[in-house]
Amino acid sequence: MDTIDHSKTAAGGISAARIAELRKVEAAVFRQARPKSAAKVGNGLPGFFGGVPMHWMNDWPTPFPILVESAKGATITDIDGNRLDDFCLGDTGSMFGHSPAPVARAIRAQAGRGLTYMLPSEDALAIGPLLQQRFGLPCWQIATTATDANRFALRVARAVTGREKILVFNGCYHGSVDETMVRLVDGKPANRPGLAGEFRDLTRATEIIEFNDLPALEAALRTRDIACVITEPVLTNSCMVLPERGFHDALRRLTSAAGTLLLIDETHTISTGPGGYTKAYGLEPDLFVLGKPIAGGVPASVWGMSEDVATRYADYVRTKEPGYSGMGTTLSGNPLQFAVMRATLEEVMTDAAYSHMDHLARRLDAGLTAVIDRYRLPWHVGRVGARVEFICAPGPLRNGGEAEAAHAPELEAAIHVALVNRGVLIAPFHNMMLISPATSAAQVNRLITAFAAVAARLTA
Ligand SMILES: Cc1ncc(COP(=O)(O)O)c(C=O)c1O
Repeated sequence: MDTIDHSKTAAGGISAARIAELRKVEAAVFRQARPKSAAKVGNGLPGFFGGVPMHWMNDWPTPFPILVESAKGATITDIDGNRLDDFCLGDTGSMFGHSPAPVARAIRAQAGRGLTYMLPSEDALAIGPLLQQRFGLPCWQIATTATDANRFALRVARAVTGREKILVFNGCYHGSVDETMVRLVDGKPANRPGLAGEFRDLTRATEIIEFNDLPALEAALRTRDIACVITEPVLTNSCMVLPERGFHDALRRLTSAAGTLLLIDETHTISTGPGGYTKAYGLEPDLFVLGKPIAGGVPASVWGMSEDVATRYADYVRTKEPGYSGMGTTLSGNPLQFAVMRATLEEVMTDAAYSHMDHLARRLDAGLTAVIDRYRLPWHVGRVGARVEFICAPGPLRNGGEAEAAHAPELEAAIHVALVNRGVLIAPFHNMMLISPATSAAQVNRLITAFAAVAARLTA
């Protein structure tokens, strides 16, 4: 019997009534398991606007934020003693596990030697060559967030090309970089809906097309006024949209022919392998950005330039009018970042770690797919290395527009809370699950079992 609801009110094939019922039941279970947390944060954290220190902490689908007591490896424990298998991993910031031993050691060692000097330490001597070897680009800079790294790399792209415009793909996210906050709304470029205090028309200097649309790319680049295309190799912030065969080759060929630089943002796709998607698939970006897990959870990011861009930028700097470049934040390039980044690059982001991550991610992908098939849900699973996502719509998705249509926020929220109640934490806002070097096969099995239990509830 087909238990799937194909009516218009259904999301992901599940009726709105059933989703609401699951959400209600699971919210009650969540509260009951957390009396201490409810007392402390049930009405918000005191002294903070909106009751949270960072606004998106209110966007978790749980009735109130999980108040964390500690996190280690791939497990989070809340103040009520609930243990969660953590597949969110700080939405990639802790992709290599919480407090890996080499990272904790490096923090302890640096803690007694000063935390910020605006001068290099000896660890910095090691990092340049480590980045060169791992990612293949010759010239690097350190920043503190991936947002900043993208912002600075885009400035360099504009500086060396003398062009103002950039091009983004619909559904992209590269951090809170203003000029990337553009969307296709009913097929037309517009400021991304919901931006606070944004009074500029961002579409003036940002072209936007759909991912995987090579004719649109060719047409956009024809005007030869675009400084840079910025993209993730796989759109991981729009469900998960994989590049179609030949897309990256064509993207490189077309951008080069148009004198447009290519910025590859590997902040999430570093899940692919030790050198990111770029190394695994032989991409040849002009600019490269990686933030989040590069320092094991300590705020740090890196951005790299090709030889050609570095030479052109050095010429630009030599001849530009004197004055502040507009790039730089005081705490960037501090010795704690160097110490921890070195430990992460040398001891944590190893081939062995990635092989474990990839192996378990494949198991998770297969396990979730089997559940989806068993319950005949019109859903699918996407994966890029250690990063797995279930999507409550048929797939594969070809672009950000399709990904937006695939979102089923109420259904996803209900599933997330139901998973938490079964001991599993996945990333909020979408259905992302990361495998870390510390994640065990037992944890993956528990996630698959929990997912199956929720699927059974939804289709009963
Ligand atoms: C692909 C990508 N780039 C950059 C960023 C920005 O990272 P941060 O918030 O650490 O600046 C994100 C954040 O999710 C991201 O997904």
